[in-house]
Order: sequence, then C-alpha cells, then structure tokens
Amino acid sequence: MTFRTIPADGQPLGVVLVGVGGMGRSWLKAISECDEVQLVGLVDLDTAAASTLAASLPGAVAVGSDAVEVSVRGGGQAVIDVTVPAAHHPVTTVALFAGLPVLGEKPVASTVAQGLSLAAAAEVTGELFMVSQSRRYNQQLWDFKDRMASTGTAGVLTTEFFKAPHFGGFRDEMDHPLLLDMAIHQLDSARYLLDCDPVSVYCEEYNPGWSWYRGDAGCTAIFEMATGARYVFTGSWCSPGLETSWNGAWRSSAEFGTARWNGDDPPEVERVGPVIEVPAPGRRLRGDGIAGSLREFVQALRTGEEPMGEVHDNVTSLAMVEAAIESNATGRRVSLESIMSRALDGALRAEQRGEVAVVLKSWHAAGGYPTR
Ligand SMILES: NC(=O)c1ccc[n+]([C@@H]2O[C@H](COP(=O)([O-])OP(=O)(O)OC[C@H]3O[C@@H](n4cnc5c(N)ncnc54)[C@H](O)[C@@H]3O)[C@@H](O)[C@H]2O)c1
Repeated sequence: MTFRTIPADGQPLGVVLVGVGGMGRSWLKAISECDEVQLVGLVDLDTAAASTLAASLPGAVAVGSDAVEVSVRGGGQAVIDVTVPAAHHPVTTVALFAGLPVLGEKPVASTVAQGLSLAAAAEVTGELFMVSQSRRYNQQLWDFKDRMASTGTAGVLTTEFFKAPHFGGFRDEMDHPLLLDMAIHQLDSARYLLDCDPVSVYCEEYNPGWSWYRGDAGCTAIFEMATGARYVFTGSWCSPGLETSWNGAWRSSAEFGTARWNGDDPPEVERVGPVIEVPAPGRRLRGDGIAGSLREFVQALRTGEEPMGEVHDNVTSLAMVEAAIESNATGRRVSLESIMSRALDGALRAEQRGEVAVVLKSWHAAGGYPTR
C-alpha cells in the first residue's frame, strides 16, 4: 500500500490523542516519552475528562470532542484513536477524509465489515491507517520467530493462555470476552510468527460454572493456516492458579526441532537435524509495546515504508475472531474466505460514502477482498 508521507522537517510529528480512558492514559505516557511526536490535542466525548487531563500536562494542548476540529486548532498532523471499538470506524473515517493519518488501537473496528470500509477509506484518501497490535512489539516474540525459523517449517504452533483477572466493567458483560478482547492479540501474533494467513477454523467456546463473566470466558480454536500448519489457541479468563504470561505460553513444533516461549523469558529451542539459516529481519523493532508501534507509525509516515498493522493486513486478525465465533455458533469448521466475502457484502450495504463504495465494489468485482 502506498500512502501520503510527511517527510522529516526536524520537528516532532504533532499528534491528537482521541479517547482518554484507561488505555488513552497509557498512550499519553508513550507519547510523552517519544521524542518523535508531540501532543497537540486531547479529544474525548467526555470533554471534562479531557480538560482535567490537559490541565495536568506541562504544556498547553487543544481540547474538545471532535478530533478534526481539535487537530485544526492545535496544528495536528496525525490522530491516535484510543476510543472504544464501536467508535473506531466513525472516528478514523472522518480523520482520514480530513487528510489525517491514523494510528488506532486494536481491534481495527467492531466488525470485519467496518474494517474493510476503513481499508477502502485509506485507499480513497491516500492516508495511512495503522492498527496498533501492541503485543507484536516484543523482542522475545521476535526472537521466538527466529528460533522457530531455525527449526524449519512449522507443523503446529500452540498458545496456552490461562489467567483469572477480575476486571469488572464491560469485559464482564461481553458475549465473547476472551476471543474479542484478548485472543485477538495472540491470533494476530500467530500470523506474524507463521508468516501466513489462516484458511479455516474450528472453535468451541464455553463458560465454566464458576465463571464471573456473563459471556464465554474459555475457548479452544484450531486454525488451518495457508502453509498447512495448524495454529491452536486454548485459554480461559477464569482460570486461577499457575497462570500463564499475558503474552500466553507458546510452542512450535517443526521438521527439525521445537521452539518454546513462556511469554516472559527468552525463548528456547531444541534443534534435531540441520541448522537452518535464518535471514535477518526486514524491519527493526523500535520499542516495546505501544512505544514500538508509535515509533513504527512515525517511521512509516516519514519514509513510506509499510508498517506492521497496516489496515489491509490487520483486518485478517479480526476476521480470525469472527470466524472462530461463527464456528462456535454453528458447530462447523468455517472458512476465512466466507467471513471475508460476507463482510464485503455487509460493508457494501452499509457504506455511506460513494468513493469508498467504489473501492469495495472493485474488490467485489475482482472476486473478493485482496488478502495476501
Ligand atoms: N493494546 C492493549 O493491550 C489494549 C489494552 C486495553 C485496551 N485496548 C484498546 O484500547 C481501546 C480503548 O480501551 P479503554 O480500555 O481505554 O476504554 P475506555 O472505555 O476506558 O476509554 C475509551 C474512551 O473513549 C471515549 N470515546 C468513546 N467514543 C468516543 C468518540 N466517538 N470520540 C471521542 N472519544 C470517545 C470514551 O469517552 C472513553 O473516555 C479499545 O479499542 C481497547 O480494545 C488495548
């Protein structure tokens, strides 16, 4: 994907932060610690919360409830969208059409259909829309990928994720708390580790009798990947005792050995057979978590180099979640192609902007959404 760049001019990139809830505050810290960006505006529907936060900052920033208006007032060059998932589509669309590139929190949007609309909007406007999948920015994850590659082609990759957090709030009320709010991180990382996309999934969700969540807090999903490898995610969010890392515990089994990562410590590998030469990674890790995705976003804007999480690619991670949910609902294996095809139809039906609809129709005419 090509997008408009903002060449370096010796000044930090002026950013407007939209959404000052729990995660918004983490972003505020990441922005303040990054010399490549400067906060110029704070936006939230709750303008009182944004104003209170702004008053605690060392310098003055514009405050309001409309990202574009605040950006114009504060001299913003890009938007960082940390609103609730339901607001990702409207906030990002308006910003892109106002000529502002967007770095947005995961998930890309509430639905894959909305994600496709955003990918089309990025094409129409020529602006970058990158989704921050913060758990990709982790040196140990990158090292694990290297260890995996040194054992040859993976046959199976597994993640165990067992935690017992009492969040309170919206997660306790969601229909699919584990899959939608958490597992999307691991599903996205699996695509990164295996360097390929899924073809289909069989999934069962469940909620143990002692669960404190309304929706299904446990699930096991088996993905068939394009290489023929299987990716298995199994986990629970009401699983006290011997909890795993928030990154999950990973194991890859390949032709010439096994690699393991417990999610917190350096990964291990046991090679059985020839050592496979691992090419140097094509990109550089620029920081941990959201600090890494923030720097990657700026680097992309400065150079035109496509970042991880570019919307066209990232939408497949949300499609994995939707496919898993559908498989659980129907008791059948579900193909990712069917999810994408239905999402494209849905996106076309819902699209309000004619130019975006033109792009969606062109994908339809070409036989479907152009995944890699
Ligand atoms: N990467 C991670 O590890 C991680 C962790 C937590 C949350 N998240 C993601 O971050 C996002 C925000 O989560 P949170 O926990 O901060 O939620 P939150 O509910 O605490 O905060 C969201 C904020 O967005 C504001 N908002 C909602 N709609 C808006 C709109 N249209 N315009 C402006 N402001 C609007 C709300 O008023 C609220 O202040 C979600 O997408 C979530 O999935 C990511």
